[in-house]
Amino acid sequence: MTKGKQLSVSAIRNGTVIDHIPAKNLFRVISILGLDKFDHQITFGTNLDSTKLGQKAIIKVSEKTFVGDEINRIALVAPEARLNFIKDYEVVEKSIVKVPLEISGITKCVNPKCITNNEDVMTKFHVINKNGEISLKCHYCEKITDQEHMSAEI
Ligand code: CTP
Ligand code: ZN
Repeated sequence: MTKGKQLSVSAIRNGTVIDHIPAKNLFRVISILGLDKFDHQITFGTNLDSTKLGQKAIIKVSEKTFVGDEINRIALVAPEARLNFIKDYEVVEKSIVKVPLEISGITKCVNPKCITNNEDVMTKFHVINKNGEISLKCHYCEKITDQEHMSAEI
């Protein structure tokens, strides 16, 4: 390994590396993916130098490939994140997250009186993107759920 390419967080054998997370959003990614309840091996680093982001964070989840909805969730709190899928220590696929226009079935509406919190109705939000800061406008009650209130709970 050449100098300057030294890994701050050890390489993983199989799994997913979520890279280029703005350092201030590390715990939001952990929360929105429910990583605190995972039993996979997870390593992370934060306040790492990044030429693009200033300070970035990285999360490495072993033996786990993120798909569909999970990737959409990452996009809500870290729209510039990059995913690297690792197999036998090699990066086999890279993917950028994409902020969806609408999103269903993730996170709770912040409004306790919302129909989605009181009846068997799945959440549905319109995604608002203000200079990369994402918030969710409820399709039913129109209240805004900001990043601080987004979590893996539904
Ligand atoms: N990685 C890892 N375990 C491996 C292989 C790679 O944790 N077995 C991590 C690297 O530390 C890096 C990311 O996966 O954070 C992407 O790896 P790679 O494409 O080799 O790095 P870069 O070329 O620096 O990628 P980028 O330009 O996307 O930052
Ligand atoms: Zn609502």
